[in-house]
Amino acid sequence: MTDRLILTLAILGGTGNEGTGLAYRWAKAGYHVIIGSRSSKKAKRVAGELNERLERDFVEGMRNADAARACDIAILTVPYSAQRETLESLKHELSGKLLVDVTVPLDEDKATLVKMPAAGSAAQEAQEILGDAVSVTAAFHVISHTHLHRDSPIAGDVLVCGDSEAAKEQTMQLVAAAGLAGWDAGGLQNAVVVEGLVPVLIGINKRYKIKSAGIRITGEQAPT
Ligand SMILES: NC(=O)c1ccc[n+]([C@@H]2O[C@H](COP(=O)([O-])OP(=O)(O)OC[C@H]3O[C@@H](n4cnc5c(N)ncnc54)[C@H](OP(=O)(O)O)[C@@H]3O)[C@@H](O)[C@H]2O)c1
Repeated sequence: MTDRLILTLAILGGTGNEGTGLAYRWAKAGYHVIIGSRSSKKAKRVAGELNERLERDFVEGMRNADAARACDIAILTVPYSAQRETLESLKHELSGKLLVDVTVPLDEDKATLVKMPAAGSAAQEAQEILGDAVSVTAAFHVISHTHLHRDSPIAGDVLVCGDSEAAKEQTMQLVAAAGLAGWDAGGLQNAVVVEGLVPVLIGINKRYKIKSAGIRITGEQAPT
């Protein structure tokens, strides 16, 4: 397996809150991270800000297509409404790679109610758009950017879905590198549940007046 220190990660739509939070954590862990954007200028500015914070030059900024072409693993952090257009335009560049989909299909009028696309979930839709040449996994949905931007440990777990065991294993390594505990949550079909947790958590945030609610898996170790 490739040494993670030389892996290049491209965060497509990486100039937003979630993308920069993941970039910060992965660059801190030693990855070479590319911030992707529709604008090269914006990507470079955001990469520069992250490097300043990190006090080292681990982050680059480029247009999404260049970032997708240059990376080993791509991570998608655009709003759900931009997912199809973004992936259709990057299909060629992503061929043969792993795409970790972080997008959450939220109902624009009622973000506290679960509303899934016809494919079942955003991740399944991504797989349909990209075809078999790309391995899609789904992860990080239940981790708020607020936690990612802090240096403190995060009290929340990540559920990872995907149909390729190797792709899931690589995604779990990225989860660990971000300082999080990851759980293999099964095939990509199960992403419906993981993505669907987000509106549930947004509702809990509102009803209980808390911020950035997450989830934690509990249980007892079975005797061997
Ligand atoms: N924020 C969180 O705490 C959080 C947590 C878990 C999951 N998520 C999910 O992660 C994704 C990103 O969240 P976010 O809060 O970072 O989103 P965001 O700030 O609204 O958007 C992220 C980036 O997507 C790009 N973008 C926006 N509209 C676009 C369009 N029409 N076409 C192409 N690119 C577009 C923009 O980059 P450029 O202008 O540079 O191209 C923007 O900076 C969402 O799907 C969200 O549901 C977010």
